[in-house]
Amino acid sequence: MSSAAPSDKREVLPSNVTPLHYDLEVEPNFETFKFDGSVKIDLKVNEKDVDTVQLNLIDIEIHSAKIGSADAEVSFDKENQIAEFKFAEGTLSQENVRLDIVFTGILNDNMAGFYRAKYEDKLTGETKYMATTQMEPTDARRAFPCFDEPNLKATFDVTLISNDSLTHLSNMDVKTESVKDGKKITKFNTTPKMSTYLVAFIVAELKFVENKDFRIPVRVYATPGNEKDGQYAADLTAKTLAFFEKSFGIKYPLPKMDNVAVHEFSAGAMENWGLVTYRVVDLLLDEENSTLDRIQRVAEVVQHELAHQWFGNLVTMDWWEGLWLNEGFATWMSWYSCNAFQPEWKVWEQYVTDTLQHALALDSLRSSHPIEVPVKRADEINQIFDAISYSKGASLLRMISKWLGEDTFVKGVSEYLNKFKYGNAKTEDLWDSLSKASGKDVRKVMDIWTKKVGYPVITVTENGNEITFKQNRYLSTGDVKDDEDKTLYPVFLALASKDGIDSSLVLDEREKTIQLKDSRFFKVNGAQSGIYITSYSDDRWAKFGEQSNLLSVEDRTGLVADVKALSASGYTSTTNFLQLISKWNKEESFVVWDQIVNSISSLKSTWVFEPQDVKDALDNFTRELVSKKAHSLGWEFNASDSFATQRLKVTMFGTAAGAKDPKVEKVALDMFEKYISGNKKAIPALIKPIVFNIVARRGGVENYEKIFNIYNNPISNDEKLAALRTLGRFKESELLERTLGYLFDGTVLNQDIYIPMQGMRAHKEGIEALWKWVQTNWDEIAKRLPPGLSMLGSVVVISTSGFTSLKAVEEVKAFFEKKSTKGFDQSLAQSLDTITSKAQWINRDREIVEKYLEDNGYFE
Ligand code: BES
Ligand code: ZN
Repeated sequence: MSSAAPSDKREVLPSNVTPLHYDLEVEPNFETFKFDGSVKIDLKVNEKDVDTVQLNLIDIEIHSAKIGSADAEVSFDKENQIAEFKFAEGTLSQENVRLDIVFTGILNDNMAGFYRAKYEDKLTGETKYMATTQMEPTDARRAFPCFDEPNLKATFDVTLISNDSLTHLSNMDVKTESVKDGKKITKFNTTPKMSTYLVAFIVAELKFVENKDFRIPVRVYATPGNEKDGQYAADLTAKTLAFFEKSFGIKYPLPKMDNVAVHEFSAGAMENWGLVTYRVVDLLLDEENSTLDRIQRVAEVVQHELAHQWFGNLVTMDWWEGLWLNEGFATWMSWYSCNAFQPEWKVWEQYVTDTLQHALALDSLRSSHPIEVPVKRADEINQIFDAISYSKGASLLRMISKWLGEDTFVKGVSEYLNKFKYGNAKTEDLWDSLSKASGKDVRKVMDIWTKKVGYPVITVTENGNEITFKQNRYLSTGDVKDDEDKTLYPVFLALASKDGIDSSLVLDEREKTIQLKDSRFFKVNGAQSGIYITSYSDDRWAKFGEQSNLLSVEDRTGLVADVKALSASGYTSTTNFLQLISKWNKEESFVVWDQIVNSISSLKSTWVFEPQDVKDALDNFTRELVSKKAHSLGWEFNASDSFATQRLKVTMFGTAAGAKDPKVEKVALDMFEKYISGNKKAIPALIKPIVFNIVARRGGVENYEKIFNIYNNPISNDEKLAALRTLGRFKESELLERTLGYLFDGTVLNQDIYIPMQGMRAHKEGIEALWKWVQTNWDEIAKRLPPGLSMLGSVVVISTSGFTSLKAVEEVKAFFEKKSTKGFDQSLAQSLDTITSKAQWINRDREIVEKYLEDNGYFE
């Protein structure tokens, strides 16, 4: 069989047969790191005179393949990850046949397929392994030969065999378990019809905690000694399943729900039906010793994966270009349920600083892609698990839910789920259900938003009470060309005024003019529900500075984010941004503050290679904005503090610390000293990462050792992560070298490689050292993080996007010109665009910023 030449066509298996049922048996071997397997696949034969069957596999050795007593001749197309079985004529003449394959696979250490995850036994200190799976998107084929496409759904019977001391888990509950000659054989019940990427099985030493509030057993499993930290997630799982059942009117169809903490895990979590797997820190929680971000993250991840049990597992995208139907929905739904459970978290306000900004940032790059993007090959599929599928997808759903009303939206969505359950759906199917529920032509409005890349900037010009809105494609580089500016997006203008939000105005042409009764106060994109940026005149920005009391939290947050983006891309002067935030120094909402602080960080990271006196002046500016507030709020955290107060204290303390506030620095160093001397309560958990950073800024090998020691003997997972990230924050070159050395010598797990890198990316010395190291060690990095995993792309982005000059763009390009960029070409292009836009911002506004800082007395 010859390998197919690259083509524009989706690379799918031939449709001559369809899988109906898999009977899969696997036995991992923890000595050889291989597994023996057999799979019997019931096939429906769709054509006459079929004599070949093609299916997917990688790194699997076939021992035999038979239909009845007929043996197949096997050939492989490695490039396309396909095996072809050729049978004698007549073998497949029946309507249904059973293909029986015996094979051996590799229990690999690449976090893909059926793999081994290494860990240290908490109780004995021994090195051990768990055997676990990660199939999405296209690695089920590493675990067993299969028809590895999301719309080739089938039922599965899984059997696991191992030493009888180990726990066996799979998607379903246990049908029979027997022990023979010290070997345990567990047969699981038959799954519903499902996609291969959702199959999961685990063989490991595990313990669990559970919650019994829900109809079916809900458990959290972890390696012994860790399970106690699973109670938070177990309780939340029970609550969330009940909530989603009620919201969608569809029962969770499986007989149990297990969540498992997996050592060495490439993503954050994976929604395998009935057996969700997680990175340890995203599931297990020691509430006493965690930051608020961590608690919210665990809550978000759990609810996200549980939302997938309906969106993705029950109804699956027809093909990967519909990935947003999985990820966009799971993202939206996690906020939806979180908002119901923890209204004080104000997640829909946080959405504006978080999800929406991620979407806008990535989609402002020339190298972005539409929500529905044609993907053909396995190595392209991995790359669309990005802020477009997740965040732009979720932002689009938010836009629709605001348009139709949340109840109507959820009703339409529930109808969609009912109609396509146990099957597959396309984006148009969703539009049809939403149209039916709302009576509005949803497809007409939304098609452009999913099929076209980008989003518009709405330029608002004023002539007295006459207001003109004009839309153009927005690029962060501010250099959109005519042929890139052809799309006219249907834009909900949602004009906010003193009378509330006028939802009737839609801009679906290039330009539109309206008359306002009173133009003293208005704001476009009320509640910041639309996916666009609004550009106003200098006068209008100045007016907003005085009108914060007329604007909602979402609106204030949105204005700060917009004016910063517009400054960066040259639509407005950076002065407007600096003036607006300095006017809003009385702000009370932690969400608005988070946006102000994020936006300042973005300016500072663009200015990171500028002269020290300018950077000091920026710190002075920041201190004037936050220090007084930070000091008056303080750094003691009381049980009586509301969530909002705690968040605000953390943000203010952290920002003052980042701007070198001497009082905060001293407090932090004192806390650290006490902590190191044995008082484990000396640093409030919520601000521990900030305190560690101040210590790293102090520098010195002694401090480094202290942080390193915390990394090795942490009191919580969250602390361990904070220490690891801090190791990248030290500026001395020998300390940076040390940290880089830990990435490969086993000190840092492959799954965590990007964490110290994030620390390095935060300062000039780190950015330079990291990029140098990546170039020197590229071959090893590529070997450890195979292109099938999205981690390689993340490493490329983290290690290049810190730069801020056009020269760096050329240098990065030149380096990768000679390398294969398979599996991360998109990430690389996006990083280059990011650097370019920073370079243009600073070249354009260098003097303007200096002048502002000078005029306002921020130079010392
Ligand atoms: N389906 C994904 C996991 C995944 C990611 C598989 C990339 C293959 C490639 C899962 O539902 C997910 O989205 N996890 C997120 C967490 C979520 C809260 C955004 C993650 O892993 O970070
Ligand atoms: Zn997801």
